Amino acid sequence: MNTYQGFNKQELNYSDPLELFNSWFEEAKKLEINDPNAMALATANKEGFPNVRMVLLKGVDTGLVFYTNNNSQKGVELDQNSNAAICFHWKSIRKQVRFKGKVSIINSEESDSYFNSRPRGSRIGAIVSKQSSILESPKTFAEEYEKYSKENENKDLTRPDYWVGFRLIPSEVEFWLNSEFRLHQRLRFKLDSNVWTKNYLYP
Ligand SMILES: Cc1cc2nc3c(=O)[nH]c(=O)nc-3n(C[C@H](O)[C@H](O)[C@H](O)COP(=O)(O)O)c2cc1C
Repeated sequence: MNTYQGFNKQELNYSDPLELFNSWFEEAKKLEINDPNAMALATANKEGFPNVRMVLLKGVDTGLVFYTNNNSQKGVELDQNSNAAICFHWKSIRKQVRFKGKVSIINSEESDSYFNSRPRGSRIGAIVSKQSSILESPKTFAEEYEKYSKENENKDLTRPDYWVGFRLIPSEVEFWLNSEFRLHQRLRFKLDSNVWTKNYLYP
């Protein structure tokens, strides 16, 4: 790969950052060895104390959609403070994209539809896991999983109301790409009265 890279003409033409994101994401999907949709999700509690963990991006529309347990640590924090940030770093293409925005729970039909598309084992895991609560031992969870599987062998599985999708609607998006001599390039989109403005930033 060329060590010097800049934004190409088409990339600079996008007026909506999600279009540029999609174009980089497509590139990452071809080259990233694992989980090109993995992203760091940063939340903060009501005292403003930050927290970060990886989640998987499961949809791009007006924002970024991911799924989790609403009773988890991140669910509790998002309930206390809907401001969040997301960061992708694709090592294979040496690019980073950062988002800031507000997160809200998506509608239940959308969550149902994604939940129902998952393999049965993953659905059972989502139902049984009391995500982020203290677990006596991994064996306990394995037993609970087995028990639930046996008891519900031929039954339809419905999405528990604590397992939901969230959408981050961005108000700021920054694209970073690696260049020679650390002359990295940064392009930031900021939403100003519903219009995206674009600026380069010093690296
Ligand atoms: C690559 C990767 C992808 C992950 N994807 C998800 C996900 O989509 N949803 C989720 O709830 N947890 C996911 N996790 C687990 C989270 O990082 C985290 O351990 C879990 O959600 C509990 O976080 P919390 O206690 O901050 O709520 C993923 C972990 C990794 C390493």
